[in-house]
Amino acid sequence: MVDALPGPSRARLEAFHDLLASRAVALGMISTADGPRLWERHILDSVRGLACVPGGAATIVDIGSGAGLPGIPVAIARPDLSVYLVEPRARRAAFLELAIDSLKLSNVRILVSRVEGLDLAVDFCLARAVASPANTWRLAQFLLAPGGRLLLWAGRSWPGASAAECDRKGIPWEICSPSGFSWQGPLVIMGGT
Ligand SMILES: C[S@@+](CC[C@H](N)C(=O)[O-])C[C@H]1O[C@@H](n2cnc3c(N)ncnc32)[C@H](O)[C@@H]1O
Repeated sequence: MVDALPGPSRARLEAFHDLLASRAVALGMISTADGPRLWERHILDSVRGLACVPGGAATIVDIGSGAGLPGIPVAIARPDLSVYLVEPRARRAAFLELAIDSLKLSNVRILVSRVEGLDLAVDFCLARAVASPANTWRLAQFLLAPGGRLLLWAGRSWPGASAAECDRKGIPWEICSPSGFSWQGPLVIMGGT
């Protein structure tokens, strides 16, 4: 998927990778163990979400963006999208400011807040490693318009107990994309059916 992107987008992804390596690991936003494998574990893992973002989407929200994952790689690859990064922790938000300034990303905005404090109604959200799947869906309800959907980076154990909990709670879900690496889970679309 990265190979299909235009040269300037690939260069921005590489620049973001370098920022993660030089700043985000030292700031504790990314595990030190991931330092040597940032490209696969964070950039490629984020970019695979592109296959599941609707072509006609206009505005999307990355819930609990942390160091900008998956929102910044998605915004780089889809400059036609307006991407909101929601992150309540000030130090993380400062890193996000630095990243969007240095990468000159004009389609990204940072909202320094918990989702519970926001007044938005969008059709599509992203979330990776924020809370359990059922709780992430609950958080997405603060941002989604009726019928809106959440793209969840599910854990390796999906479907398992997490999917059973979603079923019990009546949360609709379907797998959008299977995992590509042994350490990954699938991408799951929740809601909207
Ligand atoms: C484990 S980090 C994951 C960050 C990033 N999505 C990733 O995949 O690397 C979870 C992030 O969610 C944020 N978070 C937790 N609860 C939140 C809430 N209610 N609203 C917005 N963000 C939240 C935290 O501040 C933290 O940065």
